[in-house]
Amino acid sequence: MRILLSPDAAGAGEIAAAVVAASVADLASPVLGVATGSSPQPLYRALTARVAAGLDLSRAAAFALDEYVGLPVDHPESYHSVIAREVTGPLGLDPARVHVPEGAAADPAEAAARYEAAIAGAGGVDLQILGIGANGHIGFNEPGSAPDSRTRVVELAPRTVADNSRFFDGDAGLVPTHALTQGIGTILDAREIVLIAWGESKAEAVARAVEGPQTADLPASFLQRHDRVTLVLDAAAASRLSPASLPAEAAR
Ligand code: GLP
Repeated sequence: MRILLSPDAAGAGEIAAAVVAASVADLASPVLGVATGSSPQPLYRALTARVAAGLDLSRAAAFALDEYVGLPVDHPESYHSVIAREVTGPLGLDPARVHVPEGAAADPAEAAARYEAAIAGAGGVDLQILGIGANGHIGFNEPGSAPDSRTRVVELAPRTVADNSRFFDGDAGLVPTHALTQGIGTILDAREIVLIAWGESKAEAVARAVEGPQTADLPASFLQRHDRVTLVLDAAAASRLSPASLPAEAAR
């Protein structure tokens, strides 16, 4: 895995935005995989500045990683709402080309199969943007997720429910218990992956993802199987990596 470092989260966002811009530069209609959560926010901010400066993403398609099950689409914390607010609008994407799993569908399992078909129909994801959970989840692929898992309904880990309660007035009881998420196998099908992580709370998950064994206990460790993964980290998120994992100039 390629690792790029910045002293702080804003700088990590700038670096990740440069990775995204380079990745889509030669593509007429790039297909992006987009993540929610706080991790990618500095990236979206930096990318928004690039769009204001002339980067045109209006022909890009986007597929969100995941969505809560059972939350109305128009709930402010549904990922439909979050993606519209934080990604589609600011980046100037065409809403008709932005897809989010249908967690509110009457039959979420059927919606999962439809989502896989939609990604395949778009020609697959060119660049997948990822955050990482403190327990090493990617998307909502919690510990126990298989490397060949596909889009499916999952139960959220207690740690994730607690972490995400900050988006629900601090009340864990309001956080949905299940979600529809792209699988690890779905994510690994992307042609390129950029993961952004910042803050001390992600340091252990990052170190295990990079240096630990590939294990379902730490789903992000399966990213080691992909040959085009860039991790963009701030100093705190990189703080538990061994010097051997760091870029040469940082390890000195
Ligand atoms: C969330 C999302 C993930 C995200 C992760 C980390 O629950 N489903 O896609 O990467 O957990 O969240 P955050 O970036 O807010 O720390």
